[in-house]
Amino acid sequence: MAITDTFKLDGKIAIITGASKGIGEAMARGLAEAGASVVVSSRKQQAVDEVAAAFRKDGLEATAIACHVGDPAQIETLVAETCAKYGGVDIIVNNAAINPVYGKMLETELSAFDKIVAVNLKGPFLLAHHAAPVMKQRGGGSIINISSTAGLRPWPGIGVYSMSKAALISMSKTLAQELGSDGIRVHTICPGLFKTKLAEALWSDDKLMNYILRETPLQRIGAPEDLAGLVVFLASEASRHLTGGTYVADGGLLSWG
Ligand SMILES: NC(=O)c1ccc[n+]([C@@H]2O[C@H](COP(=O)([O-])OP(=O)(O)OC[C@H]3O[C@@H](n4cnc5c(N)ncnc54)[C@H](OP(=O)(O)O)[C@@H]3O)[C@@H](O)[C@H]2O)c1
Repeated sequence: MAITDTFKLDGKIAIITGASKGIGEAMARGLAEAGASVVVSSRKQQAVDEVAAAFRKDGLEATAIACHVGDPAQIETLVAETCAKYGGVDIIVNNAAINPVYGKMLETELSAFDKIVAVNLKGPFLLAHHAAPVMKQRGGGSIINISSTAGLRPWPGIGVYSMSKAALISMSKTLAQELGSDGIRVHTICPGLFKTKLAEALWSDDKLMNYILRETPLQRIGAPEDLAGLVVFLASEASRHLTGGTYVADGGLLSWG
């Protein structure tokens, strides 16, 4: 098979959570452009309907299914409805996440702590739980968990979020060990700062931006489209010998050690 063909995702079915905007939307478009049928998911049906319609207008295959990943029943339904529509699942991108608080870790309200863990950690766990048996039946698949460089080096002010992202990296590694024999590969992507709604408080802070741009070898912050190539690679046959790995996409900021 020609190397370019190993990146193709024709016939594959992908679910992407948090795909109504930002990094999730860009990754969903990338997967669809590589040939996958994509299930665009987030909490708001109208928002995902609009994204899926835009994809279809460009000749891509997409369906919108709303799912709050903090709700276990909705995750089960997401997998069941995907299987009913497309006949299975091959690729999961656990991308939806929240960071509702900025401040010292021990000042975090318990309700915020619980919400962060439910969405950022329990959601990805449950989606993998429901999708893995389907993937196994189809001979394998790829689970891609979107963590953060904050999961590798915690940022002050976003301690609980950082903790949830560190735990997600750990979860990916364990699942990679346990699911490898079923042909299911599990990867983690750690984005650095990207210009999206989630990180607005960071990139709209001029002092912080100046610092980050000065310290980042590529002298830029990320745009959502920057991750599409990596996610297509990790979902495809081109990455067939990779599992359990953590891929940092931060313009080189963490390369200083
Ligand atoms: N932006 C950065 O600088 C950065 C850095 C490191 C890591 N990341 C990670 O990259 C991923 C994407 O972030 P982003 O920056 O693209 O965020 P974003 O622009 O804020 O988009 C978040 C997406 O998640 C959805 N969402 C929020 N809560 C949800 C829930 N409970 N259930 C299902 N969907 C939910 C939102 O749509 P609805 O409102 O319709 O639900 C939206 O589609 C996250 O895992 C984030 O932690 C981002």
